[in-house]
Amino acid sequence: MASIADIKKELENVIYPGFSKSIVEFGFLKDVVLKDEFSCIVTLDITSTAQEIEAKLRQDITAKLSNIGLRFVEIVLSKPKEQVQKSNSQSGSNIAPQIKNFIMVSSGKGGVGKSTTTVNLAIAAAMQGKRVGILDADIYGPNIPRMMGLQGQEVEVVGNKAKPFKAYGVDVMSMGSLMEEGQALIWRGAMIMKAIQQLLRDILWDELDILFIDMPPGTGDAQLTLAQSVPVTCGINVTTPQHVALDDSRRSLNMFKKLNIPIGGIVENMSGFICPSCETESDIFGKGTCEEIASEFDTFVLGTLPIEPAIRLGGDNGKPIVFCEPNSVSAKRYMMAASKLLAFVDEVSDKAENASIQPTTAPGVSACSTSAAPKKEAATASSGCCGGGSNPGSGEPKTGGGCGCN
Ligand SMILES: Nc1ncnc2c1ncn2[C@@H]1O[C@H](COP(=O)(O)OP(=O)(O)OP(=O)(O)O)[C@@H](O)[C@H]1O
Ligand SMILES: [Mg+2]
Repeated sequence: MASIADIKKELENVIYPGFSKSIVEFGFLKDVVLKDEFSCIVTLDITSTAQEIEAKLRQDITAKLSNIGLRFVEIVLSKPKEQVQKSNSQSGSNIAPQIKNFIMVSSGKGGVGKSTTTVNLAIAAAMQGKRVGILDADIYGPNIPRMMGLQGQEVEVVGNKAKPFKAYGVDVMSMGSLMEEGQALIWRGAMIMKAIQQLLRDILWDELDILFIDMPPGTGDAQLTLAQSVPVTCGINVTTPQHVALDDSRRSLNMFKKLNIPIGGIVENMSGFICPSCETESDIFGKGTCEEIASEFDTFVLGTLPIEPAIRLGGDNGKPIVFCEPNSVSAKRYMMAASKLLAFVDEVSDKAENASIQPTTAPGVSACSTSAAPKKEAATASSGCCGGGSNPGSGEPKTGGGCGCN
């Protein structure tokens, strides 16, 4: 009858597939239990998840041990857990798969500081070691080129794609850099869809950890198209503290919920003003009102930023405060907000999916609406919005008249 030593000796002849060493030399053999004359249990701990390796090992071990009379060989094999498939390339649609995470920066209202927040958080994330991009998807009022000091720079085209600009360690592309300065387009329906998709697909985005997307204000076709085109990792909301703004903020947060986008937090911007000459603090728009709405939506306040002339100047002059005045109170708050956001992104990164909000419109049927998608449309995500039709039509930007569908 074979002994445990005999079994181990035989196992020294089982070569690990693809290598010249045996499973014993590699240290993969963990245990051998002899049950009776004809049966034993062999426990292995291997480093590969490949099915073929497992199958070959089982075959070889069984064959070797049958040489010494063991007919029933139970092989207990532990191997690393298979990587959970990243939903951002598998579930639903992703037209920019080289980008790991997408953060939608939204607000219910215009002018509350979305672009300023996008710029400073993105640079802060890059300063914390991430590969970061900014997509200025505000087709109505693209301000990112000015804020990043890129105004007037020519886009470089490679083949039929455009190269992002680089500023402050961040890759940047904006609708503003692709349109003539000061030009006004009347964006409707399918044009919006096409524009947003081109900004993702036809720009030579590098492999990025995070793409921050500065959205137009509100909850319309641009938001829906973006959510349907890529699995948005999370959305953040920028608001000022007064109640009128918070009402709109709720709309924007509800949109995230309806689009199944995790809420990454709220930035309370223009929260108090400290007079540079007398240092008295005044609550111009109020202060601290976002905590309540954050808990209402089961999220948190990423940061509160005061009204500070240096923030506005940084935007106007293309010298973002977080980079250019890193020791200022506001720069430190942006850095802190970015690290909270990065921690949240790490937590939810694998869960992003957009399968549930894909359009269901039958091929050839227009799903066009010409108005911004109100709540109900965002909820169904399949009806009444050009952002979602499976018939994009020509979709070429046209000025005025008709939405471009069909
Ligand atoms: N905390 C702040 N302190 C001082 N000025 C600020 C602050 N935040 C933003 N601003 C200024 O307020 C103006 C509006 O900000 P910004 O353009 O970022 O808002 P927005 O929400 O992106 O606007 P829009 O809806 O038009 O895109 C800008 O001039 C900006 O420099
Ligand atoms: Mg803006």
